[in-house]
Amino acid sequence: MDFEKQLDELFIAEKDIPAEFALPQELHQNEYLCNGEMKQWNGDIHTVLSPICIKTEDGLKRKVIGTYPLCTEIEAQESLDAAVQAYNNGRGEWPTMSVAERIKCVEQFTFKMLEKKGEVVKLIMWEIGKSYTDSVKEFDRTVEYINATIDALKDLDRQSSRFEIEQGIVAQIRRSPLGVVLCMGPFNYPLNETFTTLIPALIMGNTILFKPPKHGTLVHYPLLHAFKECFPKGVVNTIYGRGNNIIPPLMQSGKINVLTLIGSSKVANELKKQHPKVNRLRAILGLDAKNAAIVTANADINSAVKEIVLGSLSFNGQRCTALKIIFVHQSKVDQFLSKLSAEVNALKFGMPWESGVSITPLPEPNKPAYLKECIDDAISKGASVINENGGITKESFVYPAIVYPVTADMKLYREEQFGPIIPVIAFNDIEEPIEYLIESPHGQQVSIFSSESEEIASLIDPLINQVSRVNINCQCQRGPDIFPFTGRKDSAEGTLSVNDALRAFSIRSLVAIKLTEENKSLLNEIVNEHHSQFLSTNYIF
Ligand code: G3H
Repeated sequence: MDFEKQLDELFIAEKDIPAEFALPQELHQNEYLCNGEMKQWNGDIHTVLSPICIKTEDGLKRKVIGTYPLCTEIEAQESLDAAVQAYNNGRGEWPTMSVAERIKCVEQFTFKMLEKKGEVVKLIMWEIGKSYTDSVKEFDRTVEYINATIDALKDLDRQSSRFEIEQGIVAQIRRSPLGVVLCMGPFNYPLNETFTTLIPALIMGNTILFKPPKHGTLVHYPLLHAFKECFPKGVVNTIYGRGNNIIPPLMQSGKINVLTLIGSSKVANELKKQHPKVNRLRAILGLDAKNAAIVTANADINSAVKEIVLGSLSFNGQRCTALKIIFVHQSKVDQFLSKLSAEVNALKFGMPWESGVSITPLPEPNKPAYLKECIDDAISKGASVINENGGITKESFVYPAIVYPVTADMKLYREEQFGPIIPVIAFNDIEEPIEYLIESPHGQQVSIFSSESEEIASLIDPLINQVSRVNINCQCQRGPDIFPFTGRKDSAEGTLSVNDALRAFSIRSLVAIKLTEENKSLLNEIVNEHHSQFLSTNYIF
C-alpha cells in the first residue's frame, strides 16, 4: 500500500476498533484516595483525550476515554495532612511496623494489582498511545520490580538483624524511613516509573502523596482500591489537579521530606527552592537527557543502525533514555544514512493494538507542532529530512524524521526532542562528540559503536566521567532494573535501581549501647521479649 493511503487509513471509525482492545466504556473518575477513604469529587474535571483519533463525519477527533478530578489546593492540603498524620513524626502505625509486616502489605497489593492487569494495560495503551505489547511489558516489568524490591528488602533486613561491636560499643544499624514523600511520575512510563519510586518509598515506611502524570492518570484509577485496602489509612494518598497550582503550596508547607519526580529539571529546581528548609528535603530525581550515539569509522554499520533505530524510536522516541543525537564518522555517514532510512522505512506504523507496530500516535497535544518547529528550524539552517515521508504529520501522528546535517545553531542540537526525530551529525575528529558531551547540560548515558577494542577503551575513560552509563554497541536504556540508573549534571539526582531505591528512600539509623554487664542483660531482655521493632534479631525467611 502506498504511504498516502496508509496514512489515510491510519485512524479508523469507532465501530472498527477490535473488540478485544476497545475500552468497555468511558472511565469517569469522580473520587480520589485520601486518608483511607475514596472521597467523592463533584468539582472541575479534566477530560482525557486519547492520542488515538477516531474517524467521524466531522473529521478526525481524539477519542474521549474518560475524566478525572481537577482538585484544588484544599484537597491537596487535605491529602498532605493525612500523610503527615499517618507518619505521625515517625510514630505512626506504618513507619513503626515491622519490615516483615510491611512486606506482607505490599505482597497483598501486588496480588490485587495483578487482578487489574487487563484493565490497566488497556488504559496505558489508550491514554498514552503505547503499543499493546509494550503496555503489557510495562505492567509485567513493574510487577517484577515490586517482587525484586521485596527480595532486596528481605536481604537488607537480614543483614541488619545482627549487632555490631566496635570499641566497646554494641550497635544495631538499620534503615529507617524519612517521612512524607511527594511522588510524581512521567507520562511515558506512567505506571512503571511512578512505581519504581513509590513502592520503595512505601515499603521503607514512608507515607505517600502521589500525583499521577497529566497523561497517564486514569491508568492508576483501577489500583486505588488496592492501595486503600492494603495499607493503613493515610499511608497512600492521591492528589489531582494542575501541578503548578497544587504542588507549590505543598512544598512551601515544609512538610514534604522527600521529593521524587521523573520529569524536567526546570520543574524540579523550582519546586526544591520552594521548600523553606532545603536541608530537610531529600530529592530523588530523574530529569532531562539528550543521550548521544557515537558511530566511529570502525563500527559495524548494520548492527549500529539496528540498535540506533531501537534506541531513538522505541515508543516514538519518548523515553528519557532515548538516543537523541547521533554522531557518525564522516567516512561512514552516507552508508549509515542510507541504511538508517531503510530501517526506519521498514518500521510498521499504526494503531497501538496492531501486532508488530512500532510508531504510534503521540499523547501530548502540542508535540506534533513542536516537532515540526524543530524540523523547520533545522531545514532553515541547512539541514534536510533524509528519509522519505519523514516528519509527515496527521493529527497526533508524526512519521519519524532523520535530519542531517545537524549543526550547533539548530534546536535539535541541544533540545530534548522527546519524539520521533533522529538528528545526525558527521564528525572527523573524535574530540567533536567528546566536546559535545562535555559542553552538554545533560549527563545520563552514551552509546559507542565500534569494533576496535583499543578505540572503545580510549573512549570509555573520558566518557564515563561525563555520563553515568557508557553502552558499547547497544542503545541506551534503564534496565536491567538491578543496575544503577542515574545521571550527572541536569539529568538526575540520586540513584535508582532495585537496591539503590531502598537506600534512597531511607536513612541509616542505629541504636548504640556501651557494652557493660548491665546493658547486656537490658539488650537481651528487649530482644528476647520482642519489645522493639527496631532493636530486634528477628530474621525474615
Ligand atoms: O523514560 C525513561 C525510562 O526510564 C527508560 O526506561 O530505558 O528501560 O526504556 P528504558
